[in-house]
Amino acid sequence: MYTLEELQAIVNKCYRCPLSKTRTNVVFGEGNKNATIMFVGEGPGYYEDKTGRPFVGKAGKLFDNMIGAIGFKRQDTYIGNIVKCRPPNNRNPLEEESKICIEFLRWQVKIIDPDIIICLGAVAARNIIDKNFRITKNRGTWYTKGKFNIMATYHPAALLRDESKKKDAWKDFKSIHNMYKEISERRIK
Ligand code: URA
Repeated sequence: MYTLEELQAIVNKCYRCPLSKTRTNVVFGEGNKNATIMFVGEGPGYYEDKTGRPFVGKAGKLFDNMIGAIGFKRQDTYIGNIVKCRPPNNRNPLEEESKICIEFLRWQVKIIDPDIIICLGAVAARNIIDKNFRITKNRGTWYTKGKFNIMATYHPAALLRDESKKKDAWKDFKSIHNMYKEISERRIK
């Protein structure tokens, strides 16, 4: 079993797929090593690639506001991505790239051991929940895999493109908060 730091050192030197050739920085992920909730996005965008940090662009600001509204700071959670290097022109990661890179995410999940995993958008949901996942239809539903409670909601970038989705996203975030409360209460008992 690696520590998170050991794993990060490995990922920083990864050249397993072509995305490594065009990256500026690897975006490993960040947050609380003992987080109860882990958020998983799709892959770094322009600002994430420049800074090496997840969700720091416009979508990231919205993400911070949304988790803030249910009482969390990003330091309370862990934020990762399906692929750790920016796909050129922000295209979706290819299946092959995701397949290679998700191994690192699996390690992150093993080390952090969260109770709740939230997929941000269809790419994360298709890689984590079901390859045929339909974000409009299946978002907001809780799935159980082993000890993990997993749900997908809209990617914050989708909410920036279409404000009408915010109402459903807000329902999902309230449901995330309720699940968190339930798990915390179970622990105290
Ligand atoms: N979008 C993502 O899916 N991940 C990031 O880290 C930033 C934007």
